[in-house]
Amino acid sequence: MLIFFARKQISFGGAPKIMPLVNRARPSEKTDPNFLKNVFLFRDLPAVDLKTLTQAVKLVSFPKDTPIFYEGEHGEVMYIIKSGLVKIHRTAGDGRSKTLALLRQGDIFGEMSLLTDRGRTASAATVTACDLLLMDKGVLSALLKKKPDISFKIMQTLCERLAHADRQIKALALGNSRARIADMILFLADEFGQKDVIQIHLIHQDIADLAGVSRETVTKLFGEFQDEGAIKFSSKEIRILSREKLRKWTL
Ligand code: CMP
Repeated sequence: MLIFFARKQISFGGAPKIMPLVNRARPSEKTDPNFLKNVFLFRDLPAVDLKTLTQAVKLVSFPKDTPIFYEGEHGEVMYIIKSGLVKIHRTAGDGRSKTLALLRQGDIFGEMSLLTDRGRTASAATVTACDLLLMDKGVLSALLKKKPDISFKIMQTLCERLAHADRQIKALALGNSRARIADMILFLADEFGQKDVIQIHLIHQDIADLAGVSRETVTKLFGEFQDEGAIKFSSKEIRILSREKLRKWTL
């Protein structure tokens, strides 16, 4: 039986360097030992390794709409979402923001700067209240060395993110506002929807930041899409009534 790291083998490099934003979140005392088993990255690890890993991560809670870290900061930890919704975004000098991704329970983020030793490639903030597990860089390195399968899974995750980024580039470069919003609704339904009902709590500004259009455009086009029988929306959900219509409006 392979234990991929023993406590004394984990080099935390002295006191863990955790940035002030993380310090502001309250460390929670208990981490559910079964949770990591359901995370894509770790689901094939044997129980004994999961137990060791569970002891090596920290649980922190963030309220909603709270920055977790900012683009360019030095990265020391990778995050695993235990509950809640996180947005990954980049902001221009004039304050305009583009949401690159929405991540949810079981997703990881903050791995790129640990793997490349460059600063954070984007900022992360909570959309809803979140419980996040923090994995130190030393723990991740030890894991990757001992478990090639985890490296492969990280590569799969990065490939999926690249495919999504390509889809966004196409919509931004070639699509008009109608195409971008129709594409975004279909994407949200595929990622977060259940039977074509999207129930994640997003305000029009969130949709605008995801689709790369203004909030006013989202409000106007949501109204048009509803009038044309493609969607029905309320403050709680977006319901797709006709995928065909939405698909026709995308590129
Ligand atoms: P890191 O660069 O450490 O900090 C920002 C994190 O956001 C990055 O790691 C990834 O985990 C995540 N990230 C960056 N770009 C994207 C993207 N296009 N889609 C999903 N996640 C991303």
